[in-house]
Amino acid sequence: MNKYQKIGQATLALCVVMMCLQGCDSDITDEATASTVLHPPGRSQATVNAAVSGVSAVSGGAQAAEWPNVVSAVDRDAAVENRVTMLLDKLTLEEKVGQIIQPEIKFITPEQVKKYHIGSVLNGGGTAPNNNKFAPVSEWVAMADAYYTASVAGNGAGVPLIWGSDAVHGHNNVVGATLFPHNIGLGAARDKDLIHRIGEATAQEVAVTGIDWTFAPTVAVARDDRWGRTFESYSEDPEIVRGYAREMVQGLQGVGDQLLNETHVVATAKHFLGDGGTDRGIDRGDTQVSESELLTIHAAGFIAALEAGVQTVMASFNSWNGVKMHGSQYLLTDILKGKLGFDGFVVGDWNGHRQVPGCSVTSCPQAINAGLDMFMVPSDWQKLYENTLQQVRTGKISRARLDDAVSRILRVKVRAGLMDKGLVSRRSLSAKPELMGGFGHRALAREAVRKSLVLLKNNGALLPINPAQKILLAGSGANDIGKQSGGWTLSWQGTGNTREDFPGATSIFDGFRKVILEAGGKVELSLNGSYLEPPDVAVVVIGENPYAEWHGDIASIEYQYGVKEDLALLKRLKQAGIPVVTVFLSGRPLWVNKEINLSDAFVAAWLPGSEGDGVADVLVGDKQGKARYDFVGKLSFSWPKYVHQTPLNHRDPDYDPLFAYGYGLSYSDSTVMAADLPEATTLPSSGELEDAWLFVSRTLSPWGLFIASGSGDPVEATGNSHLSGDNENLSVLSVDKESQEDARKIRWLGLEQGRAYLAAKNPQDLSAFAQRNGYLQLDLQVTEAPSSSVMAAIGCGEGCEVATSLDSILREWPLGTWRSVTIDLQCFHNDRMDFSRVNVPFSLSTEGSLTVSVANVKIIPRTADPSSATRLVGSSEQVALSCSGS
Ligand code: BGC
Ligand code: BGC
Repeated sequence: MNKYQKIGQATLALCVVMMCLQGCDSDITDEATASTVLHPPGRSQATVNAAVSGVSAVSGGAQAAEWPNVVSAVDRDAAVENRVTMLLDKLTLEEKVGQIIQPEIKFITPEQVKKYHIGSVLNGGGTAPNNNKFAPVSEWVAMADAYYTASVAGNGAGVPLIWGSDAVHGHNNVVGATLFPHNIGLGAARDKDLIHRIGEATAQEVAVTGIDWTFAPTVAVARDDRWGRTFESYSEDPEIVRGYAREMVQGLQGVGDQLLNETHVVATAKHFLGDGGTDRGIDRGDTQVSESELLTIHAAGFIAALEAGVQTVMASFNSWNGVKMHGSQYLLTDILKGKLGFDGFVVGDWNGHRQVPGCSVTSCPQAINAGLDMFMVPSDWQKLYENTLQQVRTGKISRARLDDAVSRILRVKVRAGLMDKGLVSRRSLSAKPELMGGFGHRALAREAVRKSLVLLKNNGALLPINPAQKILLAGSGANDIGKQSGGWTLSWQGTGNTREDFPGATSIFDGFRKVILEAGGKVELSLNGSYLEPPDVAVVVIGENPYAEWHGDIASIEYQYGVKEDLALLKRLKQAGIPVVTVFLSGRPLWVNKEINLSDAFVAAWLPGSEGDGVADVLVGDKQGKARYDFVGKLSFSWPKYVHQTPLNHRDPDYDPLFAYGYGLSYSDSTVMAADLPEATTLPSSGELEDAWLFVSRTLSPWGLFIASGSGDPVEATGNSHLSGDNENLSVLSVDKESQEDARKIRWLGLEQGRAYLAAKNPQDLSAFAQRNGYLQLDLQVTEAPSSSVMAAIGCGEGCEVATSLDSILREWPLGTWRSVTIDLQCFHNDRMDFSRVNVPFSLSTEGSLTVSVANVKIIPRTADPSSATRLVGSSEQVALSCSGS
């Protein structure tokens, strides 16, 4: 009998809600902010820091870092500067303000571009001209022409606008474009020349559509693989990011007399700074590191990009030690423009300015004053334009700061030749639509796929496969180009795509079929692994479904956390005695020990993009069974051995990965792996259990937020406004607590019983938290007091739910005040409760009316002395519900 069960016999002693002096809540606070990492004793951020690039350990950021003097490959040219000054002199105040506003093409017409003197537009992830996903190149060019013409007429100096787009793995918003492997795969290729050539090819496809500027490369150094943008990072180590940043920038922009000519485009180093270092890998979160760690790890790619002459830098959504980057004068102005000598312009991220304290989407002098030069403000640009204009008139933004921002934008436009290139449709590449997804570019992408594959296991030299056999292709990724392409593919999250959306592309199956049939072998495609004829070998392509920023953040690095469908598929094949090659598609290393144990060979294929046939190039040999291409990919991210092992990074002290950074077999290796990788998901006794986040700005997978009224069907609240069924008894709205839409306001009208709850499709094991006297913690604000009793509950399937009353807490609530509520998991204990299979970790229900807002929901373990678990507090900021003890 464990600790929890013993205590759990106690009756539910409800509600110690008491006022408390500062000190007595310290145990709760400490727990809440404790390291959420399962790490070997003694490892800290400071020591991690010290291990990188030989910089001495600095704790807490007290010691200033030695930022280098950067010499940019793009010289300060007197003729350019003169031209910038002349142009600036010709602009009115209104025209200058227009230059620093960047709306999204869905929300602005060419007429408005002219009227408001707009200096830039972007198309966001998944936006194409006229909302036409299948817009041909000619439609893109026509739209670029229309904006161009409107913009030069919109100011006294004839300055055209600059159009930016996220060409982050090829020109990925355009149907038919070449889609290169995402950055994580390129990182494994360890080939700088390849990166340079990809930059050049991407620039050409972008230029073909008449777009001047790409928001790439991402030079993030992703440190926690739970981050949904890990795949946009070349490596967890600055070493690779540094080298790649330089090549990608120069490939995109060109160098020497090729610089920013008609076949090149302006590049962006993003997101400045520390985007890959946020706590627990939470997108847009806080990067809590010393300045020297910021420099040696997170700034490495920016410094290289600046040296290579990158002309724009995008400010990041994240904070550094609590300060939002869009408002950081120190990093944007003092460091980037001062110490690092950046003379291009800083563009904001999607409404990123609104997160600066005191700002809103439509007003933010703080960001401009901190050093932002251009607002990315997709839809609410008109109000922002008007407010910014007013703020310059009243001196809230100085004229000098505005002139500086506009000069920077003009400098980049002049350097990019925009003053002279003329109408978009008359530029040389607009006449070459055949370059879009052209043969040469696809061959390059296929080369990149080959080089990005990392061979992790190859027992009995199962690979390369002799094509003159019977081969089964199975798994959800075998014939799905959308899945193999990942996020930022024709839609923002990469979801919703079908085969028809990828003309000219090949799936992984396509590549296998071709070589197998040519060699006289037999191939069968069966996603669920059933077969007509027993195959000689099965190739099982599985992995993550597409996601991008935000949506891609995960709570656990366990693959198929919850339901292991693919494991079942592997087991079936194994039991039938069929040798199995697993091809794993993913945007990050995940914990797949069980899957590896069941595979004879295992290949990390990342997110290869449109040229799926590059996979068979390497995995399938010739008719003699000899390899056609060897594996050259080496991990640029460490692969975890344990399910709780994150963050896990190269150069960590006590580094204990399953496959180390740099690992990757080739065909000459004869390494044999026993099928004995640790499969337990429980914590080693020495380990700390991390907080389990259920909701932070959005629900974290596998959890979802639902509302249900009476016996009506539950509605999942995935967007920012939802109503329950017909009577609209419940509603959920995304609202701001500390940042944009980081809380949900839930309203009960009281027409019938209504329930708002978090749930997972498959039961989750939370028993470790119950055993450690865990708590559920959330931030709560009551804006309308309950008219009837309110119950909180935890559910573990049919007939398995335990509820506890929240009345004592809610009755006393100072309306409108946010408080942190802790509810002892013991409050939900009884004979029926099974914490090892929780599908609803939290629900709130009432028959009455009530309005509450909820944020930051998590489950916290308490490993400390259990007696302290009963010492709970209530104050203006904190309330607790305690049920443990005697
Ligand atoms: C856009 C993306 C953008 C995101 C920001 C989406 O609607 O398509 O380009 O990054 O919003 O939240
Ligand atoms: C992303 C950026 C992207 C921008 C425009 C943002 O949400 O963070 O990476 O460039 O949207 O789509």
